[in-house]
Amino acid sequence: MAELVARGETERGELALLRRGDSLELRVNGVFVMDTAHTETERELATATLRAVGGADLRALIGGLGLGFTLREVLADRRVREAHVVEIEPDLVTWHRDGLVPETAAAIGDDRVRCHVGDVAEVIAAQPPERFDVVLLDVDNGPDFLVYDANSAIYRGEFLARSKEKLVPGGTLAIWSADTSPELKAALHEVFGNCEELAIPVQLGQHETTYHLFLSVR
Ligand SMILES: C[S@@+](CC[C@H](N)C(=O)[O-])C[C@H]1O[C@@H](n2cnc3c(N)ncnc32)[C@H](O)[C@@H]1O
Repeated sequence: MAELVARGETERGELALLRRGDSLELRVNGVFVMDTAHTETERELATATLRAVGGADLRALIGGLGLGFTLREVLADRRVREAHVVEIEPDLVTWHRDGLVPETAAAIGDDRVRCHVGDVAEVIAAQPPERFDVVLLDVDNGPDFLVYDANSAIYRGEFLARSKEKLVPGGTLAIWSADTSPELKAALHEVFGNCEELAIPVQLGQHETTYHLFLSVR
């Protein structure tokens, strides 16, 4: 049985934060987005990408905020000087600021965080070239399980090429997906000339599955 912690309504529909046992769950229009019980791959999105990037004074962009685990992990890397987080749902940012997600509550207040409320596609387009060392995208359950239909463009060549322009040479774009995606892999190959897919086994209670990260280096 789930208990409602917070609820918001936007032009895109309903956003809900629920407590189920010891964990919190985020739902959009009734669809499960993520919970705090299984966050290995959200964290791995940050660590696997930053591990491959050299240098100091790193600048990262994270889309979206979700329950804050990718952001928290980015901030744990002391080489990160600026972490830009982009979240389309203003209520979710407020819930973080109000401490409703205790495990990651400190992240949003870190003085290295620049919070953008808006669509990650628009925020990335507005950035100057060669701005980021890493761009980490986790805005859907993957290209085939969109949270919002308009996000489909995020997995296509035009947006991927725009994201590449915003990376420094040697910088990495990484995308989280609940499933493998030959189409996304091909699109990343087309734009970057390379794409590494990490398939990460995850235990969801009794059920085992595999989540995927796609990494491309400029
Ligand atoms: C799966 S969650 C992100 C999980 C996050 N990696 C974490 O560690 O908690 C997806 C988030 O992306 C946001 N989102 C969806 N579409 C977006 C868009 N176009 N621009 C920015 N944020 C978006 C959703 O509101 C949601 O908060």
